[in-house]
Amino acid sequence: MLSNKVQSLTPSLTLGISSKAKQMKKDGIAVINLSIGEPDFFTPEAVKAAGIAAINNNYTKYDAAVGVIDLRQAICDKLHSENNLSYTPDQIVVSSGAKYSLTNTLLTIANSGDEVIIPAPYWLSYPEIVKLTGAIPRFVETDFTNNFKMTVDQLKAAINDKTKAVIINNPSNPTGAVYQKEELLALANVCVENDIYIIADEIYERICYLDNFTSIASLSEAIKEKTILVNGMSKSLSMTGWRLGYTATTKEIAKAMGAIQGHLVSHPCTISQHAAIEGLKSCADDIANMKRIYQTRRDEATKIISAIDGLSVVQPDGAFYIFINVGAYREKANAESLSLKICDDMLEKQHVALVPGIAFGNDDFIRWWSCVFTVTFCRRQVVLGKNIAERFQHQLCFNRCYKITPSST
Ligand SMILES: Cc1ncc(COP(=O)(O)O)c(C=O)c1O
Repeated sequence: MLSNKVQSLTPSLTLGISSKAKQMKKDGIAVINLSIGEPDFFTPEAVKAAGIAAINNNYTKYDAAVGVIDLRQAICDKLHSENNLSYTPDQIVVSSGAKYSLTNTLLTIANSGDEVIIPAPYWLSYPEIVKLTGAIPRFVETDFTNNFKMTVDQLKAAINDKTKAVIINNPSNPTGAVYQKEELLALANVCVENDIYIIADEIYERICYLDNFTSIASLSEAIKEKTILVNGMSKSLSMTGWRLGYTATTKEIAKAMGAIQGHLVSHPCTISQHAAIEGLKSCADDIANMKRIYQTRRDEATKIISAIDGLSVVQPDGAFYIFINVGAYREKANAESLSLKICDDMLEKQHVALVPGIAFGNDDFIRWWSCVFTVTFCRRQVVLGKNIAERFQHQLCFNRCYKITPSST
């Protein structure tokens, strides 16, 4: 008999779609996969060279549970120079991906039965990680018309005496929403007043298209004390497979996380850690270059998608996803889950893999990964984007079950 915790888990819908798409490819069908959640760039050359050097220099043994000291110092330097945050290496814990940093965080601060507030739409692993640690996810429905940002009133209404923490994902996966400094300050002050931890997942921070990105912990000392900052190398440095994330927090929490990590995984791969030092020190140009290309793609993709009958999008200010409102097709689709039906049909009939919004807590939406091409020739990118949009249009507008009346667009 499996444990109650495992039985409460929802299997990953994205992994399910991805394996179906892979099987179709194996069967000889040319599937366009827009369900992916990672950069389509190779890891920067300097990082790869540092990884190879780490092997040759025999950095292949056990090291500190919280991560190698030079990497934790490099993270402190980055947080200081880019985010106006002052941390010492004993406040940093490096883990095997931001996903594990989040798990470590919740194992450290949450007791069984505590509530963790999660604004919806949310990255699909949050509720599952919360449940695995014995805590209870409490969702706050945010509004499309407010760019999917949680308001202070919504946060206050969700707080009760069981609330332990709130997760603020900025920029957001899947919506691309980015909170302004004043919005963050207002939310953070509520958390401080109510003695609630802020789990600040800022993994897409370097993929922000606004002039300024504000890291929530930089807003005041009191806010920093209550914040567990989560970040990592996966997205900004295109290092998804190297598995590196980190937290910056109080010394007390960092020490406790180190103890948990020491027993569960010892520490993340030392070779990856040595490579990441180089990434943090010398890859600012690579990061800026990738961001510039993501921005061009975002601009093109939002234009193309908005031109399709009945679809609307809020221009994402960060990350590399487009969250598309397909709600206008609800009545005609005649399915229990609109987003699942559209995604199933798009995969089976149009050979385009997308992620249904239901996986992120909003069934009126679909997530489109805007990195649709492995090599960054923007013209080809636009052509491919148009081709996908035509398939989308075809599926939605010429398939009888989706046909909408002009007034509902
Ligand atoms: C919002 C968010 N947080 C965390 C992660 C996990 O990143 P990592 O690959 O470092 O575990 C992801 C990955 O998709 C993400 O989208």
